[in-house]
Amino acid sequence: KKILFVTSEAYPLIKTGGLADVSGSLPIALKALGHDVRILLPGYASAVAAGRFEQVRSLSSDGEIAILEGLLPGSDVPVWLLAHSDYFGRPGNPYLGPDGKPWADNPERYSLLCHVAVEIAMNRLGLQWKPDIVHCNDWQTGLVPALLSDEPGRPATVFTIHNLAYQGVFPYETFVKLRLPRRFWSSHALEFYNQLSFIKGGLVFADRINTVSPHYAEEIQTPEFGAGLEGLLRFRRDRLSGILNGIDVEAWNPATDPFIHTNYDIDSLEKRPANKAALQRAFGLAEDSGVVMLALVGRLVQQKGIDLVIEILPKVMQMPVQLVIVGSGEARYEQILLRWARLYPDRLAVKLGYDEAAAHLIEAGTDLFLMPSRFEPCGLNQMYSQRYGAIPVVRHVGGLADTVADANATNLTLGRATGIVFHEAVADALFEAVNRGIVLCQNGTLREKVQKSGMSEDFSWRQSAQRYLELYDLALADRLTADS
Ligand code: ADP
Ligand code: GLC
Repeated sequence: KKILFVTSEAYPLIKTGGLADVSGSLPIALKALGHDVRILLPGYASAVAAGRFEQVRSLSSDGEIAILEGLLPGSDVPVWLLAHSDYFGRPGNPYLGPDGKPWADNPERYSLLCHVAVEIAMNRLGLQWKPDIVHCNDWQTGLVPALLSDEPGRPATVFTIHNLAYQGVFPYETFVKLRLPRRFWSSHALEFYNQLSFIKGGLVFADRINTVSPHYAEEIQTPEFGAGLEGLLRFRRDRLSGILNGIDVEAWNPATDPFIHTNYDIDSLEKRPANKAALQRAFGLAEDSGVVMLALVGRLVQQKGIDLVIEILPKVMQMPVQLVIVGSGEARYEQILLRWARLYPDRLAVKLGYDEAAAHLIEAGTDLFLMPSRFEPCGLNQMYSQRYGAIPVVRHVGGLADTVADANATNLTLGRATGIVFHEAVADALFEAVNRGIVLCQNGTLREKVQKSGMSEDFSWRQSAQRYLELYDLALADRLTADS
């Protein structure tokens, strides 16, 4: 099959979160299964610099808009970058300006991406290639299925929801400015409570919709998780499914990971503590193998339950533990965490910003990995943790519920416990889970049992890529029925 994969970020060219991990690994898995996958991505300055690209098309007379072609670094997957010096040439975060607010011209920037995706999908740019499937991801690509919907002979469309909380909603004026077809101004199309919703383009018009875990696919059909779109999703539930994300098992392999201090695997767990010591040194914490180490890596936003972590800090800082936090996000959380780190420099290390190497060393060194998310479409770190023998402490929500089995008596007996799972999104429940985790870590035999169950899990893309191929077939079949 020929698949055009449209996304706003792809590792290692540009990454702000899990979408980049998926966009940088699913296409590789599909290619390995014999399919012709090509990625379309905005040509952010840092993305252009991160690979080897050459211009293959100019889309404007002044040459300001162009298509660059290259390979996803470390793979044989072709990438087209949409270059636009004004929209994508600016340095910094792809979505946010230096003030932490979304770039004001985001609708124009991602609408351009969508229009170019449609031109490529219809083979109108002279690239000599027409996909069978256009696979879109999140709101930035939401207009693609809508715009394609009335192109005769169009490819089939699949829209993947990585996070329903980000919808790309803008005022009516933006709808006018973007010159979108008038008929899209309807609650059956792009209108969402009198505003323009990019994500609805995907949810209404794609032949098939999926999310990144089976659990989240159910949750988003309820008011608690549906963010106002639960009605539409319930309406389309026969076209909606959940496919668990895989992980890049090459990049995240403790046996070969170049970012960690000492490589190890399931049969040489005794080597793992060297990484804990390295982690303690790297973060200026006392080198102590006996203290239980907790860690969190991620976006410091409400979704991730960072406020719950902050709420239990007064109690946790009284315990014989160390806590390492690496992340960036809302200023209010960043400031509070820095304050606590100054108060307890020997217990708590906080590093603000993005640090890939630290993320790897943390998985290799920490005893417990915290993910107390309010909602979590899939979540990747709990899978990295299991692969690295770090025990995840997670809330029973979304993909976390699908990938972590609680270390309760039954699961322990059956040898399938892989972490600590708690239910309510309240500080007390998290605190109790942390305590259970600490007790578990202090019991060498049980702890190793849980570590080994986690390390034996297969989180590779193999199965999930197969599921996407099945989804593409369903989308193709749906498109044909729609045509006839
Ligand atoms: P989300 O996409 O919602 O942010 P995921 O768990 O799917 O959550 O993916 C997050 C990815 O981003 C993981 O690979 C994680 O290690 C990485 N990540 C997040 N914040 C940081 C950071 N500050 N430094 C390094 N890696 C980070
Ligand atoms: C989103 C979700 C995260 C998921 C990732 C990749 O960012 O928040 O849970 O793992 O997308 O699908």
